[in-house]
Amino acid sequence: MTDSTSQILRRSRVLVADDTESIRSLFRKLLTADGHEVVIASDGLAALEVVSRHRPDVILLDVSMPGLDGLDVCRRLKADPATRLTPVVLVTGQTDLSDRIRGLEAGADEFLSKPVHPHELRARVRSLTRMKHLIDALDSAEAAFMTLALTIEARDPSTNGHCERLAEHGVRLGRAIGLPAEDLDALHRGGILHDVGKVGVPDAVLLKPGPLTAAEFELMKRHPEIGDTLCAPLQSLRRVRPIILSHHERLDGSGYPGGLRGDDVPLLAQIVGIVDVYDALTSHRPYRGALSAEEATRHLMLEAEKGRFARHYVEAFLDTLALAGTPVH
Ligand SMILES: [Fe+2]
Repeated sequence: MTDSTSQILRRSRVLVADDTESIRSLFRKLLTADGHEVVIASDGLAALEVVSRHRPDVILLDVSMPGLDGLDVCRRLKADPATRLTPVVLVTGQTDLSDRIRGLEAGADEFLSKPVHPHELRARVRSLTRMKHLIDALDSAEAAFMTLALTIEARDPSTNGHCERLAEHGVRLGRAIGLPAEDLDALHRGGILHDVGKVGVPDAVLLKPGPLTAAEFELMKRHPEIGDTLCAPLQSLRRVRPIILSHHERLDGSGYPGGLRGDDVPLLAQIVGIVDVYDALTSHRPYRGALSAEEATRHLMLEAEKGRFARHYVEAFLDTLALAGTPVH
């Protein structure tokens, strides 16, 4: 074992949930010997409680436990955004194929059959621990980008809260037009991250209290590509990058950076483009006051008539505002 591996293993925490005391103590002994910190639960409800209190890196669940069984616990953990990436191992009877099928449906990552072979237990936990540490590293890289995006926004007081509003409006429009959960997730993160590339735009341009010169606008227009390049190494942002790169594209080809037309503009970027324009218009700027909801609505509809936005998406967005109680007429 290398030094770095042993460090990783020492830091990891494993939950063993089983109603049989002898199995709990056997697993604890084996895993503690490998350097893991072991936490214990003797039924399903206790397992959920231990998870929320101790945030284990790997969770071992006996399928048959009194009250809430292992499958129920697994289903709940995989439905909760805070724990859905935590590896879950279901411990099943040797021949119980139906348990395994239901376990896969519940989102289990691995299975161990009873009687559990000590080598197999230790190898499984070791590899899942490594996987969890990689997931955590990716998560924290993404969190760093989110922080960067909000920091950039904070440089310009006139845009305060813009990213959060964009995330909220984008998700609402996505839901209204029936997009799946993974697109709604990308819209949320894209709303926050869409302008992260402004980190590469000088303050003199970003914070200029007035219209930009042609040369300054050229600098500003680089932000989608800078943002896309920044986020490229992160696999977890794969679905968010088209939003970052293309939220200033327009269906008639008048946008940037690619001058894309029609369906070539990714759908999620079209959505963020619409809500971005609306939010910019209804926000105060140093060189003009905030437009009223009526004026912003008129402007958006005009953009749709010119062929820059899809009319049905603009209308669906205005409907979501009306439903949310924001006056639009
Ligand atoms: Fe932008």
